[in-house]
Amino acid sequence: MSAILPHGGTLINRVAEGAEREKLLSEAAALTAIPVNAWTISDLDLIGVGAFSPLTGFMNKQDYDSVVNDMRLSNGLVWSIPITLAITSDQASQLSVGQRAALVGEKDGIVYGTIDIDSIYKVDKKHEAVQVFKTNDIEHPGVVKLFDRPDTYVGGSIRVLNRPVPEKFNEYYFTPEQTRQIFAEKGWRTVVGFQTRNPVHRAHEYIQKAAMEIVDALFLNPLVGETKSDDVPANVRMKSYVALLKNYYPEDRVFLGVFPAAMRYAGPREAIFHAMVRKNYGCTHFIVGRDHAGVGDYYGTYEAQDLLRSFPVEELGITPLYFEHSFFCTKCGNMASSKTCPHGKEHHLTLSGTKVRALLREGTCPPPEFSRPEVAEILIDGMAEASKTYAI
Ligand code: ADX
Repeated sequence: MSAILPHGGTLINRVAEGAEREKLLSEAAALTAIPVNAWTISDLDLIGVGAFSPLTGFMNKQDYDSVVNDMRLSNGLVWSIPITLAITSDQASQLSVGQRAALVGEKDGIVYGTIDIDSIYKVDKKHEAVQVFKTNDIEHPGVVKLFDRPDTYVGGSIRVLNRPVPEKFNEYYFTPEQTRQIFAEKGWRTVVGFQTRNPVHRAHEYIQKAAMEIVDALFLNPLVGETKSDDVPANVRMKSYVALLKNYYPEDRVFLGVFPAAMRYAGPREAIFHAMVRKNYGCTHFIVGRDHAGVGDYYGTYEAQDLLRSFPVEELGITPLYFEHSFFCTKCGNMASSKTCPHGKEHHLTLSGTKVRALLREGTCPPPEFSRPEVAEILIDGMAEASKTYAI
């Protein structure tokens, strides 16, 4: 096992197996059903496998209030993002504290799990939005999702009875127990986690490799749950990661495994959450670059770093590695950041998302100083296949 402790000290496992699962499944048929969407199913599964340790279920009122207001669980542990189960007031009227309910896929009718209800509470979503996202602007993709949900939440510990089955790239799904085991078998004592919801461009590669110079290995852990519609779809990204690793990374020092969570776009608060989860997967270090988990202009370039810095590293239990905005400098002739490059902006190759999208749409690879050709080609193909416009 990897030496690093999970958040809270114990790796949670709420996935029922064997006879216990059979028993719970047969009982579930008689329980009140709470319909759950893909986002909630992914949260449920991530709680079940321990990626969200120390959570054992959806947050009750006490933890929710504490997380929203103080970025801590009610036991004092750092936790920045509410993990909640929203139900309509109609559904709430059929449920009571002390009851067990079944969590049933709204699309497929599969019983994904059960919840032992210990709290049913109404929330002020505007307050949650301002606390978590620092805005209640409905243009913000996290805020709009929040406002779309009902405002009654149910809390309580869960059991997972059926794990969601990925449509593709099944071989890159691992539980924290498995990644910890794999890192230990490989003999890696220090592993840096990298969160991304984008294709890996040269700036990402640069900060990953800079980090790899000081740790044993990189855990490339792309988020593949729900993202906003103009982000590059996970399947296209996965193809591009595989091609990138094959061509440019040492096989024995990199591990690719997905993080099947939904993207919240909560910037600074999500950076803390991302770090805690990567600790659970067995990482000792975590990369935080510019505008981590940000969207639009809602957060300052280094606000996520500043918020993480406000917590003592001992409390986080994982060491954040901070990187400044990185780019290719034509004068230096290499990748650099303002920390390492003395030249003016006019020498820095920066491409707007709009420009990159336009290039890819017309089938042109962006310059190799911006994106590896193997990555760009996959994005061009992916773009041609989809009718949507991707934000790159
Ligand atoms: S995120 O929403 O998942 O954070 P993205 O995939 O773009 O978005 O970023 C992944 C990580 O790389 C984050 O830590 C982010 O801060 C960092 N990052 C992205 N681009 C740059 C860049 N040009 N310079 C430095 N860090 C960057």
